[in-house]
Amino acid sequence: MNEFAKTWWKESVVYQIYPRSFQDSNGDGIGDLQGIISKLDYLAFLGIDVLWLSPHFDSPNDDNGYDIRDYYNVMEEFGTMKEFDLMLKRLQKNGIKLIIDLVVNHTSDEHRWFRESKSSHDNPYRDYYIWKEGVEKGRPPNNWPSFFGGSAWEWDEASGEYYLHYFGKKQPDLNWENPKVREEVYDIMRFWLDKGVDGFRMDVIPFISKHQDFLDIPEDSLNHPEFIYASGPRLHEFLEEMNREVLSKYDTMTVGEAFGVTEECTQLMTDERRNELDMVFLFDIGRIGRENWRQNEWTLPQLKAMFNIQSEVGNFHWPTQFFNNHDNPRSVSKYGNDSPKYRETSAKLLAMLLLTQKGTPFLYQGEEIGMTNYPFTSLDQFDDIEVKGNIDKVLKSGASPEEFLQELNKTSRDHARTPMQWNKKPNAGFSGGEKSWLSVNPNFEIINVESNLNNPKSVFHFYRQLIEIRRNSTDLIYGDYFDIDPGHTKVFAYTRAGIRFTYLIMLNMSDSMVKYQVRFEFQDYELLLSNIPTTPNKISTNYIELQPWEARIYKSKPITNRVEYE
Ligand code: NOJ
Ligand code: CA
Repeated sequence: MNEFAKTWWKESVVYQIYPRSFQDSNGDGIGDLQGIISKLDYLAFLGIDVLWLSPHFDSPNDDNGYDIRDYYNVMEEFGTMKEFDLMLKRLQKNGIKLIIDLVVNHTSDEHRWFRESKSSHDNPYRDYYIWKEGVEKGRPPNNWPSFFGGSAWEWDEASGEYYLHYFGKKQPDLNWENPKVREEVYDIMRFWLDKGVDGFRMDVIPFISKHQDFLDIPEDSLNHPEFIYASGPRLHEFLEEMNREVLSKYDTMTVGEAFGVTEECTQLMTDERRNELDMVFLFDIGRIGRENWRQNEWTLPQLKAMFNIQSEVGNFHWPTQFFNNHDNPRSVSKYGNDSPKYRETSAKLLAMLLLTQKGTPFLYQGEEIGMTNYPFTSLDQFDDIEVKGNIDKVLKSGASPEEFLQELNKTSRDHARTPMQWNKKPNAGFSGGEKSWLSVNPNFEIINVESNLNNPKSVFHFYRQLIEIRRNSTDLIYGDYFDIDPGHTKVFAYTRAGIRFTYLIMLNMSDSMVKYQVRFEFQDYELLLSNIPTTPNKISTNYIELQPWEARIYKSKPITNRVEYE
């Protein structure tokens, strides 16, 4: 029934912290490590097993820490190495593992290596980065675009060459062809693993191997260069080497951000019989309906098809499940309905979807209380380098500022980055200072941790209950996923069939009531949890009336004739 070997990271629930926006401890308006330490009891109470910390390294913050200046130091605004060590110790005391963000496709241009590299052609660090002459004066080596606007090549007057940057111009790409660069990366990994961290989330890891012909990419790929950038020839070789040199020597969990990869590449990166990564984040579900900064309509059958693709990647691939992270809008605003009438119910439905799917679930800070998108009213409110860098191009392409704003209100990364809403106090309790680095969502008086904790029927307690159910059910973790009704436009209904039990999950992902037909085989299944008070607690009729955004999970009687997991 299931070819997988059991491991701790398959059984874990992961919680992502974006340190800048989680909790400020000293009133400067910026979240920090002491702030995280002060909230560890809260995380333990929620029931998470692993914390993923977005970059905490020294950085000039051009891309909020995804531009690292020193991999061996903590960002000053976040605290000190001593505080990092204390945080790690406290996490361990609470039984929570820690994975950190490994951002090694690029560094900051303020990294010592880049400063050396830039200083002259014969500097030993020159080859740590990718330098090329222009095709002619004033014209970069090829047409590769940067994700943050303009060309991916930046001219350096002093040395008379261009350097490559897939992201901002303050994020030069490392040259992984150079074995010294790879050794440096492995040293960084060993340093943090030896400290006691349990693994890595790897930033845009498929981009590390560059196409060495540096040819122009076809015109029709210019809006989606990720598909080209992710298909470099030596990716698997590099990942195998990293695994051999470092990962295989520790008990780690690794998850690669798989922007732009094909299904075949996903298989190769995560196949358990190979030695590359444990898991990857795929982009299909998170980007459904997305066309760059635009959000188009999508349907439930399309979404279900994406879950099916995940489950079909192969028997030896273990999926991840996530709706939120620091690069995406808030899930309740995108997949649910964030109007006062349905916000809580639909946030709970999404909790059930996330925690009953096959794969390791990743929650993002604030998701557990149903935080929503921020109501931006003008373009200058955005902080994100992605918005700032692309604004000219978007307006030049003919879009009006109003249209751009309207779409960003659905797609911007800043929705996820507004401060965590802890209570009703000023700055939502995120900071005791005057101002937070990014505005707090005005709905914090209604949506905050304190009111969630005080209300046993809150979104928070629903997450807790589901995490608890999942923890106590091997079958819900390892059981087979089967979509029983892929074409239904409102109800997402699926089973998770394990060795002793089968679970039936029914989610009405619409604003209307649905009379849903239940197959005979599910008669007598027992209700485990629902987001709307529901009777009876057993399936005993052919039809079930599902209220708008209603979510239910049922459990079968014990089954005796199925085989054991390995
Ligand atoms: C992906 C990260 O998640 C995103 O926040 C960042 O801007 C880019 N990689 C560049 O590091
Ligand atoms: Ca602070």
